[in-house]
Amino acid sequence: MLPENFSIAAMRAEEVPLLAGLAAAEGWNPGLADVDIAWDVDPGAFIALRRGDELAGGGTIVSYDGQFGFMGLFIVRPEFRGSGLGGVLWRHRLERLRQRLRPGASIGMDGVFAMVPFYQRGGFELAWRDLRFEGVAHGVTDPGAIPLSHMPFEEVERYDRAHVPAPRSRFLSRWIHQPGALSIGLRERGVLVGYGVARPCLSGYKLGPVFADRLDLAERIIGSLLASIQGRPVQIDVPEANPAAVALARRLSLSEAFGCARMYHGIAPSLPVERIFGVTSFEFG
Ligand SMILES: CC(C)(COP(=O)(O)OP(=O)(O)OC[C@H]1O[C@@H](n2cnc3c(N)ncnc32)[C@H](O)[C@@H]1OP(=O)(O)O)[C@@H](O)C(=O)NCCC(=O)NCCS
Repeated sequence: MLPENFSIAAMRAEEVPLLAGLAAAEGWNPGLADVDIAWDVDPGAFIALRRGDELAGGGTIVSYDGQFGFMGLFIVRPEFRGSGLGGVLWRHRLERLRQRLRPGASIGMDGVFAMVPFYQRGGFELAWRDLRFEGVAHGVTDPGAIPLSHMPFEEVERYDRAHVPAPRSRFLSRWIHQPGALSIGLRERGVLVGYGVARPCLSGYKLGPVFADRLDLAERIIGSLLASIQGRPVQIDVPEANPAAVALARRLSLSEAFGCARMYHGIAPSLPVERIFGVTSFEFG
């Protein structure tokens, strides 16, 4: 039950930048285009908590083709915290997302560690930790790196699909071609064997996703992305369940700065985590 004057409803377009602002205030360093991409692809994913007509909090509940859901950007404005509003908003979002998905579809999220018991009470189970590494970008461009804009989109999509729980064609095409981003892939014997994206954020850049068949390929992709943003602050969110990826981040002189618990509601999707060197984002999966 919400207190009088509070309501939960679909978010309006003009509230989307306010939610991004709340994320920025939390120090989450969102990508400059992140919420615009999500809004364009799935406006129904944005849920607002309002006091009167004012945005008091919100969150996203993205549906990937009705087959897989992802909850993110769960925030209540600081002055309204601690009185039960977040809990009501979260349960509303979970319920609404389940309505948006096929029966039995799984839902993922990356939650701050302190909140894990709350999410467990809501039916989510811990899969692994995603660790945020950050530092200053130093890298060497690989001569074999090919801009994804020079490849057929279907080739990128096919490769991406093997690393995510559900099709995300429109999201992917917007993500890899977003303004200011560098998106590159490597081929072996004519076949795509890895790709990565560096995107501009409020502060510096984030790398994500970085998917590669092998560690040496991931190293070449990440090296090329870092070379393109040489000397700039950079972050990458690495699944701890891929120890080679964690070791690579450390070898690149990046240090652990933050982390989230990757959790799933329903059956955890079977992902090739040994080929995931950087997740796409904490907010959208
Ligand atoms: C998380 C957040 C949205 C909760 O909103 P809220 O209005 O304060 O939430 P509530 O008062 O309804 O509390 C909801 C639950 O979260 C738990 N909780 C809230 N803040 C917590 C914290 N810092 N550590 C651990 N648990 C916390 C409460 O114990 C409560 O659990 P319960 O209902 O089982 O008792 C709000 O604190 C926030 O915006 N925080 C900053 C952003 C953030 O961290 N978001 C979560 C990202 S995964």
